[in-house]
Amino acid sequence: MADHYYLTTPIYYPNGEPHLGHVYTTVAADAIARYHRLAGDDTFLLTGTDEHGIKMVKTAADAGIEPAALADRVVAVFEQVWKELEITHDDFIRTTQPRHKQGVQKIVEQLLASGDIYLGGYEGWYDEGQEEFVTETTAKDQQFKSAISGRPLVRYKEASYFFRLSKYAGRVLENIKANPEFVQPASRRNEVISKLEQGAEDLSISRATLKWGIPMPNDPQHVVYVWIDALSNYITALGYGSDDDSLFRKYWPADLHLIGKEILWFHAVYWPAMLMSLNLPIPKRLYAHGWWTAEGKKMSKSMGNFIGLDKLREIGKVQGYDALRYYMLRAAPFGSDLDWTDADFQKSFNELANVVGNCLNRTLNMVGKYRGAVPPLGEQDDLDRSVIAQTKRLGQLLAEAYGKIELQQCAMLPVELARAANGYIDATAPFKLAKDPTKASKLDTVLHVSAQAIYTALVGLLPILPEKAAAGLKQMGVDVAGKTLAQLLDAGLPVGHPIAPGQPLFPKAEAGK
Ligand code: MSP
Repeated sequence: MADHYYLTTPIYYPNGEPHLGHVYTTVAADAIARYHRLAGDDTFLLTGTDEHGIKMVKTAADAGIEPAALADRVVAVFEQVWKELEITHDDFIRTTQPRHKQGVQKIVEQLLASGDIYLGGYEGWYDEGQEEFVTETTAKDQQFKSAISGRPLVRYKEASYFFRLSKYAGRVLENIKANPEFVQPASRRNEVISKLEQGAEDLSISRATLKWGIPMPNDPQHVVYVWIDALSNYITALGYGSDDDSLFRKYWPADLHLIGKEILWFHAVYWPAMLMSLNLPIPKRLYAHGWWTAEGKKMSKSMGNFIGLDKLREIGKVQGYDALRYYMLRAAPFGSDLDWTDADFQKSFNELANVVGNCLNRTLNMVGKYRGAVPPLGEQDDLDRSVIAQTKRLGQLLAEAYGKIELQQCAMLPVELARAANGYIDATAPFKLAKDPTKASKLDTVLHVSAQAIYTALVGLLPILPEKAAAGLKQMGVDVAGKTLAQLLDAGLPVGHPIAPGQPLFPKAEAGK
């Protein structure tokens, strides 16, 4: 039976259109999901929108509309963008959907039943952008401003229900320490551990002064705190607490919650504590990736360095969304902060064109012209054998890299194979071999080895460049539909497989721009 793989993106606030940051997480999740599907795993990718909370209320008020109308308008844009980017999510959850509201109420009822919720009063600071309660000490340290947006913290004083986070803090910490895989990357895991070692206070989980939210089932004057509401999506989307929880039973616990670094605490501490209170298993892994800046500075519309939809769509039109995917995933080791520069984007596009596109084109032309089909291996030397070995290794290296969520490696490994194949073609000079009939066996080897190498590189690129890799393979006469990674890699290109000269995969006119 195939393995299950359940992964999620954060559910985004639909208070503004998606930009580079949202696209990054979603594309990363999509690449991982595509890899697992290709590997034959029963995969489920969830994304969606987080539509309650004060931030939505305020943005809507500024626009002179209701929060629900704002959400509907922006959610339509998110859905459209994911469609344009061909994101392969299996579900899109909106926290305003009845299925989610019912699920959250069920969850809160269970937390109440376990005795983990009590009524108290909250007086303190709140970061409205982050939707986060901030302790007095932290507020002071941050000069009463948000650590993320820099906006002033707001003083709240109201009756509130509390969740006994303090009761679970020890177990949550133990679990993080005992499972090095759980919170990644390691640097961020250490941050969570040192913060949690100082203990955790009970968490205010309801708002009495807010109407836009899911009513507390025991006290409808309060709405559920937006983070309790939001985190629950990972199980309500699977039908937890509903009449049909078959997806939940099949896929939970999640294999991976992919998130940005600024929301790790909620996922590493609040979420496991809630799950412990619900007696449910903890997700297997949280991966907090870094943040994008652009041209060395925080992205901002006023600074003119904002990578928003207009710019992303322009790239999609000119260089193609696959080039965007490759650039984003290759830009830095996954987990590190990243900086967008137009120059680096161009370099990374040229790399695709000059390494992958060029290798494919040369190979198709040579094999097409000299043999018309993949020839058998002829005589071999160490150089041939080393490229053969590198080709054979790719599947295993990719399995390891995807297993560790090393997405930069996932993007680069196949390209490095194509680079090696290009070097090999340069070194063996097949056009010279073709002129010498005594070198026919050697030419067979070179053509065979190059064809297998670029074929394998393209197969390895399918999760990263879904459109271009499939188009390249199509030029090689291979239809990938319905085939698993193992089938594609093990089969290779059979001897006698017809090959004809091809078209540029990344046309030069674009590459030069
Ligand atoms: N609604 C919460 C998440 C709830 S999950 C249960 C939220 N939403 S958000 O709209 O603010 O999206 C935050 C996410 O967007 C980040 O975690 C990250 O995935 C992505 N990014 C937004 N800006 C980003 C950058 N500048 N760089 C990289 N990713 C960032 O938080």
